[in-house]
Amino acid sequence: MPQAIETMLLEERRYPPPEPFAAQANAQPDIYERDPDEFWETEGRGRVSWFQSFDRLYEWEPPYARWYLGGKLNVCFNCVDRHVEAGRGDKVAFLWEGEPAGEREEITFGDLLERVVRFANGLKSVGVKKGTPVGIYMGMVPELPVAMLACARLGAPHTVVFGGFSAESLSDRLNDMGCEVLITQDEGWRRGARVPLKRNADEALAASPGVRHSVVLRRTGGDVAMAEGRDIWWHDLVGRVQGSGPETCPCEPMDAEDLLYLLYTSGTTAKPKGIVHTTAGYLVGVATTHHYIFDIKPDSVYWCAADIGWVTGHSYIVYGPLCNGTTGVIYEGTPDYPDKDRWWEIIERYKVDVLYTAPTAIRAHMKWGPEYAQKHDLSSLRLLGSVGEPINPEAWMWYREHIGAGKTPVVDTWWQTETGMILITPLPGVTTLKPGSATRPFPGIDAAVLNEAGEEVGPGGGGYLVLRRPWPAMLRGIYNAPERYVETYWSKYGDAYFAGDGARIDEDGDYWLLGRVDDVMNVSGHRISTIEVESALVDHPKVAESAVCGRSDPQTGQAIVAYVTLKGSDPGSVEMMEELRAHVGRKIGAIAKPANVVFTPELPKTRSGKIMRRLLRDVAEHRPLGDTTTLADPTVVEELETRANTEQTEE
Ligand code: WTA
Repeated sequence: MPQAIETMLLEERRYPPPEPFAAQANAQPDIYERDPDEFWETEGRGRVSWFQSFDRLYEWEPPYARWYLGGKLNVCFNCVDRHVEAGRGDKVAFLWEGEPAGEREEITFGDLLERVVRFANGLKSVGVKKGTPVGIYMGMVPELPVAMLACARLGAPHTVVFGGFSAESLSDRLNDMGCEVLITQDEGWRRGARVPLKRNADEALAASPGVRHSVVLRRTGGDVAMAEGRDIWWHDLVGRVQGSGPETCPCEPMDAEDLLYLLYTSGTTAKPKGIVHTTAGYLVGVATTHHYIFDIKPDSVYWCAADIGWVTGHSYIVYGPLCNGTTGVIYEGTPDYPDKDRWWEIIERYKVDVLYTAPTAIRAHMKWGPEYAQKHDLSSLRLLGSVGEPINPEAWMWYREHIGAGKTPVVDTWWQTETGMILITPLPGVTTLKPGSATRPFPGIDAAVLNEAGEEVGPGGGGYLVLRRPWPAMLRGIYNAPERYVETYWSKYGDAYFAGDGARIDEDGDYWLLGRVDDVMNVSGHRISTIEVESALVDHPKVAESAVCGRSDPQTGQAIVAYVTLKGSDPGSVEMMEELRAHVGRKIGAIAKPANVVFTPELPKTRSGKIMRRLLRDVAEHRPLGDTTTLADPTVVEELETRANTEQTEE
């Protein structure tokens, strides 16, 4: 945090919108003058199609909001059918590119409708209907959005579990939601290697007795075991229900507040939270922000390079863009396969005009060097976006300079799984940009920065980011955990939503996000809680105790450092470090593997036995240590400092 504050104070570069961009932009300066209620009322009526119009904009009974009350609609109808009905069936919905060379698909809205209808009918045949919870565990294949949309069509809420998560993470989520069906695939492709999704799913299902069926897409053709009576191939399921002539499957009319999906995210305890998103407010929120922030035009070729398994993919690959009838790119693999110019090759091939990615990816490209981008014609790009963590001004500048030809606006968008939609962001035709600042709340959003006492800090002040009025796509709670919902977001300030991020407002009223203020780390833009990793470590039979913290890392934003005390008087070893990293990978997923393991006979604790994580962070960051007098045994940290400085670092 102190570093971010210094950066902000030194940052004086300003980039007003280029004249021609400003003139044609979807959002014009007067958008900030609109009344919030009028804004969301108008967007709600105009941006989505209703089976039955809403009669109340919203109801706010802190901490619960409901939006577009009385309205009936279907998300899949809005994302697919209505575009076909309007004669745009031949427009491309997705340009899909597989990781292996030459594997490409062009899926029009007409094709998408056909695929969704068939798959929805397939799901029906295994008993999926309105209200049936469905788990989805897939890679970045076109069938992933098809599966999500088919669920939405039937009114079956889904939870998508990122394909990099372990079997245990998957079964935890399936069990928490009570999923009855799982949709998965044989394997995925990642950097030329096969990701054993079905094998992980089998392991997960052994611990998820509520799942009756799993539907398996054949992607790589790799050998997988199919459990008799439980597992069904995707193609068989679809073939089974396919009759003669065009198929139909009506869109279930859903209430504005019916559950659309749960998405699990890390909090400050070991158990991930099932964030609840409902139908109408979510759809209006993501479609509206997508339209104005990314300045989407009818002929845009838009690429959000996130994974659909995270909220960014839900809101800005699937639901927002499809609702707006936008052509989007989906790429299956990693940016460096077969070489480090893969992304730029894709942008050149499809003439992408808007690219949305994360600072960690930008920093990876920076490290590889601009020559990879220079090999390709990127002149189609007119706008760049960033999300997931604070973007350091150097990365912002590099992005604009080397990818945006020194002229495209860069929108740094702040939001969360919980917010569902972007809340703090520049508008590319209006806002004067500052590298590293997410600038201003989106129209209709009431954000503020409060101090510890709950008072609003003025220009120049720092504190905690809050939201004071409900917004359409906000979470409706944590699934099955109403107390945790109140405790996490509403106990600090009563009826202002506490985001868990530190922020500062500068003299111009622009926001600078400063990172998490709780025990949540942000590794490559992914949220991982310290306690989750600690629990995974302590689960290893040789570990007695562990404490985990994040340290800043030039590549991944934060890197995970684990302090571990082994049982007996085992001093630890490089092999043990590898074993523990692999163990965490199995328990949670590869993203949660500690970069560094520091073995220590003891952890620094207060006299009451609480682990002093603040001190561990200082040690990890090589910062001067603060007050150590409350420690039970002050010599422990001195010892730790020596160890942290000599221990090997991985990755
Ligand atoms: C961080 C991702 C600074 C923040 C959409 C937030 C950011 C958490 C930004 C949510 C940004 C996201 N600037 N920090 N532009 N965007 N964050 O739920 O700490 O995966 O609370 O949602 O990422 O992460 P989540």
